[in-house]
Formats: sequence, C-alpha cells, structure tokens
Amino acid sequence: MPRGNHHGGKDRTDRDDMTPARARRIVERWMFPVEGSSYMGGLEKRPVIARAKGSIVTDTGGKEYLDFQSGQMGAALGHQHPRIVRRIEETMGSLLHASNTMLHVPRLRLHEKLGEILPKPLEKSLFLVSGSDSIEAAIDLSRKATGGTDVIGFHAGLHGSTSYLTRSLSFNWDRRKHSIVAPATAAILAPYCYRCPLRLEFPGCELQCLDTSLELADANFTAKPAAAIVEPILSAGGVIVPPKGYLKALQDACRKRGMLLIVDESQTGLGKTGKLFGFQHEAGVVPDIVVISKHFGGGLPISAVCATPEVAEAAVKEGYFATRSHATDPVLCAAGEESLLIVVEEDMAKRARRIERRIRKAFDEMAAAFELIGEVRGRGVLLGIELVRDRKTRAPAEKEAASIFEYCLANGLIFQLRGVRELKNVIRLVPPMTTTDSQVDRAMSIIRDAIKSALGRGRARGRKRKRRRD
Ligand SMILES: Cc1ncc(COP(=O)(O)O)c(C=O)c1O
Repeated sequence: MPRGNHHGGKDRTDRDDMTPARARRIVERWMFPVEGSSYMGGLEKRPVIARAKGSIVTDTGGKEYLDFQSGQMGAALGHQHPRIVRRIEETMGSLLHASNTMLHVPRLRLHEKLGEILPKPLEKSLFLVSGSDSIEAAIDLSRKATGGTDVIGFHAGLHGSTSYLTRSLSFNWDRRKHSIVAPATAAILAPYCYRCPLRLEFPGCELQCLDTSLELADANFTAKPAAAIVEPILSAGGVIVPPKGYLKALQDACRKRGMLLIVDESQTGLGKTGKLFGFQHEAGVVPDIVVISKHFGGGLPISAVCATPEVAEAAVKEGYFATRSHATDPVLCAAGEESLLIVVEEDMAKRARRIERRIRKAFDEMAAAFELIGEVRGRGVLLGIELVRDRKTRAPAEKEAASIFEYCLANGLIFQLRGVRELKNVIRLVPPMTTTDSQVDRAMSIIRDAIKSALGRGRARGRKRKRRRD
C-alpha cells in the first residue's frame, strides 16, 4: 500500500510515530473525556485514521477498512471525491473566506443550483455550517412564520447536538443528559411498526399511533403550535421507515393546526435513499421547510435551510435571520455546488438503488440461514438490519450485535450500531454511493462470517453454562 501525500511526501495525517500507545496517552491526558455509553465512547480503543479514498479508510498502521458509515455521513459521495478536492483547491487559491455582508460568486452559484434542484414550491435557501445549526434555524423560521411556539418530533428522532434546542428535540438521545431542556418541545410516537408502541399492525392500525400522538400533543401544547419535525427515515433511531401514508397524514394534521412540516434531510437527502430527497418516496408530501447537511459539502461542513417563498417572507417580516461567521465561506459554498453537481450528473440516486438491491439480496440469503436477522429496512444506502434472538418474540439481540460489530471492525468493516433509544441492536449500513459491487460483496462476506462467529460464541457460552449446571 503506497503511503504519502499526493506530492509524494508524508503529510501530517499519516505520521507513523502516532502509535496506538501514543494515541491512548493523548486521549487520556489531553482529550476531553467522552461519555462511555455514547456512540463516541471507547474511541481510544479504535483505529486511528490516517487517510481515506472512496469507500476505504486506512489507519495509521496501514490497515484498510470498508467505511460503511460514510465517515460521519459526510462522505456519502465517497471520501476525497476527486471533483470535490479539485474544486476546493481551485477556490482556496482565490477566496478562502469572505464577509457575509457581501455577496460572492460561489455563494450565488450555490443558491442558484440548489434552487434549481429543490422540488417546488421550495426555492429559498440560506446556508449555515452544521446540521444542528440549520435545524435550530428551521425551528426559529417555523416559529416566526406561523407566530406559533410548540414543536413536536419523533420519540426516536435525532436532529442535532447543540446544547439547547436541537438536543431537546433529539428524543433518541436521553433528554436527562442535558441540564435544561427547551420549553415547547415534545415527543410524538415514532411509527416503528416492527415494535409498534401500541401493539398494533399496519395497515389495520389505520395509523393509530399518529392519532394518539396528536391527541396528546394537542393536550400538551403550551401555545399556538409551530411545527412538526421529522426525518423521512429515522436514521439514528434504528433506520425506521414510516409506513405508507404516514408522512402525508402528518402533513395534513399539521396543516389543520396551522403548523409547518419541517423535513430533516440531513441523512436522507441528495440521493441517498434512491431519490433526490427522502420525502419524495411518498406521494403528496410537500414540506414547508427542508434541511440538508452532511454530504452536502462533499466532506466539508455546510448545511442549508430551504423553504417556500411564502414561509421565508412571512418569517422575515417578523425579523427572522440566521447566520454564522463561516456560514457562507466561499470554499464551503464551492464544495456544496460541486456536491450537488456530482449528485445530479453522476446519478447518485441510481447508484444508491443499485447498492440497496445488492445488499438486500445478500441479507435475504443470510436471513434464510440465520434466525438472528429480524428485519431488513431502509432505502438506498441507508439500511438497517434489526437483530433479534427469536423472530417470534423479537427479543433484541444486543450482545450478538456488539459481537458482530467488533468482529467486523477487526476484519476491516466499519458501521454503527443503532436502535430506538437505549437499544443498540440494529446494524446501520451507510456505504458511500460510489461503493463498488465488489466492495459491497466483501462487506457482506465479512458480516456473514461475523454472524457465524457471534452465533458460535453464543452457542459455546450456552454449552459452558449447561456444563456448569450439570
Ligand atoms: C437527522 C440528523 N439531523 C441533524 C443532525 C445534526 O447534524 P450535525 O451533527 O452536523 O450538527 C444529525 C447528526 O447526525 C442527524 O443525523
């Protein structure tokens, strides 16, 4: 494996003096501690990444991993997409930073390109840096546009990590972890059909979870309500796909109450689900506000709040604005425009659909062999495999999931384990949309071996326990 940067020499990301022992010492001495139960817990035991290309990341020891979490989802176009790298380098040569009190070409081009690809009547956009920034701005926008206050979100949803508003609406993280929760934020039941909170079955349930949730929400509203915020597929909550008709019914319920529908497309937007936007899988859904982030910047941090002219104008009349010092940096805007061009010109949605078909086929075969696979769900390159001990009782197989995760990491495949609230029994696969067939096949083969190993270990544990009882 050749090492070194593209100028031929070693760069600072690839220093071979960064041994695992040294990395551990730095974490212990200098890094802010990470809460052990969070998804970032145990970092010091994980590989230290030196470089990445396409779907492969390489650690400081030269070991390669298939990155089936697309970085922190920011690399869904593939790491270091050559067009993104070229565009960033070009822009850096002329304009790295600019005041947002003046316009510049990359920013204008990005507004134009985004406006052209947004489904109508969405047209207006503003740029911020992170997904959380844009969610905060979208909530504020909905409040200013409607004159309302209360916002509802799914109990298994996640919308960001800013310490007040977006964490308060990220019910899939424990709200008890925050010292203060934002008022006028409340959860409604996520439509999680595999473990229906109402013990009903779709379609016979007639979306009872929505009716029950709204009855409670109406009772709880402290003021005029402003919005409902949803992920079209609840990613961190275990890749939950709302059943057919749900989003449209929620939208109708919002309209009836004068509330706006905010669709958080951070994880589902720009091709990943096999369509340009995740909400487009359901006919008749016309969001008032959409947020995009993650691979919007091709790997750099830029996010957008997109809205209809009507919503934007109503809010601005009430004094609405949202910005950050680096929100419209030319390099970020140029990367954003290039990423949109790549999504469209390289038909990323089609690639995502192809990857989905290949992964589903592999899991169909695995499901025939292993009871452990309870459900395979999701769309495009956002897929979840829920693991259960027993398909009838659906008892979550958390230990097996953890063992599969460790096996895969040791054997060169990275993904995250997710699930509803405290559960971590869903393998979430988010391969870059540029992942090749042979890389998908290799990942599936690692997972197959990991399942065999996890089940073998479980059986061995069972035998040991039985011997002890005997
Ligand atoms: C659906 C969703 N919305 C918003 C965010 C927040 O984005 P960021 O971490 O860029 O602030 C995330 C982060 O993972 C997310 O998954």
